Amino acid sequence: MDQLIVPSVLSSDFSRLGDACVAFERAGADRLQWDVMDGHYVPNLTFGPDVIASCRELVSCEFEAHIMCERPEELLPRYVEAGCQWVLVHPETLRQPHRTYQQIRELGAHAGIALSPATPLAHLDHALDLVDMVLIMTVNPGFGGQDYLASMEPKIRRARTMIEQSGRAIDIEVDGGINADTIGRAAAAGANVFISGSSLAKADDLTKAIDELRRRAAEAVS
Ligand code: DX5
Repeated sequence: MDQLIVPSVLSSDFSRLGDACVAFERAGADRLQWDVMDGHYVPNLTFGPDVIASCRELVSCEFEAHIMCERPEELLPRYVEAGCQWVLVHPETLRQPHRTYQQIRELGAHAGIALSPATPLAHLDHALDLVDMVLIMTVNPGFGGQDYLASMEPKIRRARTMIEQSGRAIDIEVDGGINADTIGRAAAAGANVFISGSSLAKADDLTKAIDELRRRAAEAVS
């Protein structure tokens, strides 16, 4: 599986999100993640679709919307229209998960299942034929800058085994506390897509920081 470095703009300067997208793309980001929060499913409030749409034409890389909202079904079309090629949803927020994953693909986007730390892998049963990515959160959703939960590594390993047994090319994304010191552990456990927000936001040289993440992830599986 290709390894992808996907910056989250959650830790960027919200008064200059367009500049952040341009800087991340120039520095080698493979895709950009927008953490969409409604203040109900998680105790934080972030980006509406119009904010994402305002940045869409500034870069050519793909966008993914990680939707941490109650009742996301109603929002899905707007985030795809805003320019997101990937849409990740948390199964606990869905009334009909199977139907929602179908709906994301019918909208023309890639579908992803996002699992918070205590959410079981059983949510992947009867769903792997409907999704292109599984996001295993390595922090509790809501805020950037939290510490990586190494206790999620057995869950990543088990998910990778489930996906291999399915015979499907499904990515495993990790999100939360991913930096130069933790990315190798997550890669060794079976993740191949890496979200990083605060670690990259603090970097003096963004290109070098993304290159270092890429190097450490590749080293872990070589
Ligand atoms: C939590 C967010 C964060 C963010 C990345 O809901 O999803 O995990 O994307 O944050 P860092 O890389 O700062 O942990």
